[in-house]
Amino acid sequence: MREDWIRDRLREFNVRHYIENARTQGRARIEIADRRVAASLYEEVVKFRREEVFVSKDLFITLELAERILFSEHFLFNNPVPRYPAYTNIRVLTWALEANRRGPLNAVWSHCRQMIRLLLQDLISFEVWSLAGIESWQQANCNAQIIRERVKLLQEVYVQAVNYVEQFAHHYVGEPPEDLFALALEEGREAAVIHLTALPQTNQHDEVLFLRTIHISECIFWGILTATYTAIECLKYGLTDSAVTCLCEATSFAGLLKPLFQAFKTMPPEHFAEFRDATGEASAIQSRTYQLMQIFTQGMDEKKVKNLADTPETSDLLLYAHPAFVHLRSILVEVETERIAGWQDVKTQAEALDHALYTWRCIHYGIALNYLPPAIPGTGGSNGAPYLAAHFKHKILDESRHCPTWALTGRNSPITARPILSQFN
Ligand code: HEM
Repeated sequence: MREDWIRDRLREFNVRHYIENARTQGRARIEIADRRVAASLYEEVVKFRREEVFVSKDLFITLELAERILFSEHFLFNNPVPRYPAYTNIRVLTWALEANRRGPLNAVWSHCRQMIRLLLQDLISFEVWSLAGIESWQQANCNAQIIRERVKLLQEVYVQAVNYVEQFAHHYVGEPPEDLFALALEEGREAAVIHLTALPQTNQHDEVLFLRTIHISECIFWGILTATYTAIECLKYGLTDSAVTCLCEATSFAGLLKPLFQAFKTMPPEHFAEFRDATGEASAIQSRTYQLMQIFTQGMDEKKVKNLADTPETSDLLLYAHPAFVHLRSILVEVETERIAGWQDVKTQAEALDHALYTWRCIHYGIALNYLPPAIPGTGGSNGAPYLAAHFKHKILDESRHCPTWALTGRNSPITARPILSQFN
């Protein structure tokens, strides 16, 4: 049977060996022969999934995870220069967040919080074990004084993330299993996230901080996006109380960005310079969740149209320049709402969200100025800090700005777009 055959093929892939291989020297140095094995297994998995629609549940779940893990190796085998999805293994994280299927909203948000906590715990444990001298991976340029300060700041983010003061407990998910099935079928999907998302290109200590900050931010962006999207739907039907609740949720996620990036800034620019080249063309400009979050809060930004269109990961998002698309700003700024009950509360909460996101954009712009040499282009193909400077001050409640529509983008608009909830997330 074909099912037995693909099970055997999946069992031949030793997850523990793969992770050790990637982390010992840095992922950029994985032997090409090993990468070829992973890349051809990816092709077999994709083909099998396309041809066999009905399979046992455990196999279905394992194939889904296998495809997401192996996607990155397949990509890197064919394009040695990483891009954001392969570099960050973001498809494993979105699988754990269940960002590929519809679920009850409270479950979506508690899932996001759970993942944020897990990733913070993992990062703090990594730093603490490094201080104690028992962490063996990613120890190049490990500076104890910096790490002590970083742990303190990360614990502050953790306390804010759990929403109440809680004694910090070190989390340990155990060694990675050898078997893909064990990883895929684990309830909570924690081991897959812990072991298969932080695979740095180099053995530089601070590249783990860089990757983990990206993963935590992605969970935050997903929380904000889903909460904003729901608030917009509530507002379309005049459900202002529910909209306020959703915007509160979005604001509480957004409020984590500032302390998270304060901790991130403990990384000295010289440490970043040691691994920046190894990140290739990876840039969070290629993050669909971030760009969608911006589009749903503010609408399509004129200054970003060209960059989004030139970035394959986001080019279909230009469809949101459709004049009928409703985003938070268009509802708040353009609709005559003075007499609708509860509207002032909606505006007040939207202002709080606006403020939290603006604060993050300011901090991030500062990072781009401080960490990059002057006039250097961004890894994502933009002109770097000037790209960010052109729009970081744009806000949700800015009445003077108009969003471009299809005609204004002046480009051949894409015909199909991937929805927010998609199996390709
Ligand atoms: C030293 C660290 C960092 C530097 C120097 C930096 C620099 C930049 C630059 C120059 C861009 C412009 C796009 C391009 O790459 O061409 C950018 C975009 C972006 N970065 Fe960073 N970044 C850093 C860390 C991070 C981290 C940890 C995150 C967390 C997710 C992040 C999130 C973003 C996002 C979401 C964008 C897209 C902004 C937009 O399109 O409006 N960055 N970054």
